[in-house]
Formats: sequence, C-alpha cells, structure tokens
Amino acid sequence: FDAIEIITTKRDRRELSTAQIDWVIDAYTRGGVADEQMSALAMAILLNGMNRREIADWTLAMIRTGERMDWSALDRPTADKHSTGGVGDKITLPLAPLVAACGAYVPQLSGRGLGHTGGTLDKLESIPGWRASLSNDEMLHVIRTAGAVVCAAGTGLAPADKKLYALRDVTGTVESIPLIASSIMSKKIAEGTGSLVLDVKVGSGAFMKNVDDARELAETMVALGGDAGVRTVALLTAMDRPLGRAVGNALEVAESVEVLAGGGPSDVVELTVRLAREMLEAAAVPGAKDPEQALKDGSAMDAWRRMIGAQGGDPDAPLPVAAETMDVVAPSSGVLRRLDALSVGLAAWRLGAGRERKEDAVSFGAGITLHAKPGDTVRAGQPLMTLHADEAGRFERALTALEGGYEIGEAADPALFPLVIDR
Ligand code: URA
Repeated sequence: FDAIEIITTKRDRRELSTAQIDWVIDAYTRGGVADEQMSALAMAILLNGMNRREIADWTLAMIRTGERMDWSALDRPTADKHSTGGVGDKITLPLAPLVAACGAYVPQLSGRGLGHTGGTLDKLESIPGWRASLSNDEMLHVIRTAGAVVCAAGTGLAPADKKLYALRDVTGTVESIPLIASSIMSKKIAEGTGSLVLDVKVGSGAFMKNVDDARELAETMVALGGDAGVRTVALLTAMDRPLGRAVGNALEVAESVEVLAGGGPSDVVELTVRLAREMLEAAAVPGAKDPEQALKDGSAMDAWRRMIGAQGGDPDAPLPVAAETMDVVAPSSGVLRRLDALSVGLAAWRLGAGRERKEDAVSFGAGITLHAKPGDTVRAGQPLMTLHADEAGRFERALTALEGGYEIGEAADPALFPLVIDR
C-alpha cells in the first residue's frame, strides 16, 4: 500500500479495505505515514464518512497499536462510564465511588479539559496530593482498595489515537462521527472494561449540537462496543445548560462531595443515580446495592475517601480557592428562561479553569458558581452567578463570553431538553 492511494480512495468516496485501514494506522503510528498525509485522510473521512465496517476496522486497528488491559484477576464485574464532555459535568467524581460501593469495580481512564469542556483529571488534581498517573500495578492496588480508580491513560494505550487526536485538534477534523466514535471506543475497549455506559451529551455545550447527530454517534459507539464484547449502553443527555451549580475544577470537586454526602443539586444527583443503575445493570452485578441507599448510608463517601487516599490525595484538605470573586446580577425580575452551556463554559475557561495552550496549567480555584438555573424565579439585582478567578483582570473577558448567554422572561424556555433525552 501507499498513503496516497488510500487518501485518494476516500477522497473519491470509495470504501477502504480492512487491509488498507490496518496498514495506514500502523504505519502512521510508527512514522511511515506523515502527519500531512494523515490529515488529508482525516479530512477525507470527515467529508465523505465511513461505513460501520470501516469504523469497526479503524477502531480495532487503533487498539492493536498498543496494550490491552486485563481485569480478569478481579473477583467482581467491571463497569465504566464515558461522557462525551460538557460544562459542569463532574458526574464521574461521585459516580465511580458510588458504583464501587454498590458492588462493581470501576476502572476509569479519564482525560483533561478540551476547549470549553472540563476534564476529570484536572478536577481531581485540585485535591492536594492526588496523582493522576499510575502504573498498571498501582491501578490494580487502588481498585482493590477502593473499588474504583480514576486515572490517566498510560502512553501504551491506543498510541495511534493519541497521535491522531493531537493532529485532528489542529486540522479542523475533530467533528467527525466516525473519528470521534473510534477515538473514544478504542480507548475504552483497550481499557478492558466488561461493560460501558456512554453519556452522549447534546446541546450548545457538547460536541454534538443536535439530537440526530448525537443519536448517530451513540448508535455507532454502542455497535463498536458490542462487536468487541463490551456490553454497551448509551444515554443521550442534556448539555444545553450546565450540569449542577458549579463549573470549574475545585468548585466541581466540592459539589461532588456534597452529592456523596447525600445532598447536592437535583440534576447532578438524578443523573449520577441513573448512570449508576445503568452501569450496575450492564455489568450484571449480583446482589447490587441500590445507589440511592449507598448515597444515604455513607458507603459511597467511604469509597470516595479510600479512592482519593489510595492515589495520594487528602480528602480532608481544604480545596484551593480563587483570590478574586465577582457577582453577576439579574438585570430584571422574572424567570430564568435559558442559561447557555457554551457561554458558561467559555466564561469559565477564560476565568482560568481551562487551558489556552496545551502546556498551560489550569487554575484550580477558577470557575463559576450558579445561583439560578433555568426555571428558577429571580429578582432584579439578585446575584445570578459568582465568577471566581486568580486575577481580577480576567472578569472582563468572562463577561463578554456571557453576553447573550442568559435570558430572563416569564417561564423556562420550552425548547430546553429533558435531563435524559433518550436511552
Ligand atoms: N473525545 C475523544 O476521546 N475523542 C474524540 O475524538 C472526541 C472526544
């Protein structure tokens, strides 16, 4: 094979053979296909698509470039959850220890923030001492101690995806359903989980802006999981407004701890419990405990404390706090009609919760606390949200991002999605 022949095949809307896909993924990972050739191929795929057989071959080829983890030494079923990313989506933090407390093992490889969306590892790193990078032996130790481990994927896992993802990020080729589905599923299948629940986010704050695209992504990923022997279920959930009332790293850890203590915002609790039930069912855990019970009786909190402690973190240490705050007040009285997830995500990013460049550090204390959600009654002059940043100079740009991002009227916008749109 040669790269040009493969690029022109897809450019001319023809199907790639299994052998062509195997060759190009392997050669790209080892440096035999150049970045400019792979970016031309990625663009041809974005424009012309791939069929289910091509997507399955592409995913398997990416898995084969690295190691595949194995949890068969554990005596209980494994379950994982993956969210396609959103604003205020801290669900992994309460969910992983909750599902562990209910009887499954949760081996979760997570990522960092991307653009305006937050990353689980950045959030957990705001806990003093907590370490994201573990060896395979350490992962096994944490999962045996706490029932759950949330950590960074090692360099040996799907290296083709690491290289391709970085290339897509700078060549306008992220938003392709075949490329997103294969990227996510190659990592989750290589991670070795026995079952997987996908939380596919829909709305302004998500990669998928409408239900049809999200459904196609979900169906593609469910099929890939099933073919690989991973019991896979997907929910489509709302990301037209932020989840919960906290957006930003340490702020989201604090909110997650509230949920584990039996409190927390109702949407975060509802989605956490729903996803926990789906995970326990997909993993077929015998005699699983009810998730609501595990939040009430403190067993989920115990699992959280063990999980954080086993990764070097101090669950009792005070969390970082931003030096400066500023309230954004309601301009009039009425009902909050909308609170746009993308606007809030961009504002939190500009406050320092996310990175401008790949090598930047995030601010742990930065972010936004929401005092009203769509449907809440507000009075003119009442704080709608509080902005948190390490430098007051950041507020101006955050306020610009929030312009037009919220609206006060007579009732919540009827076009808002229900929290769980479909399964
Ligand atoms: N997350 C991934 O891991 N890959 C994508 O392509 C998009 C989101």
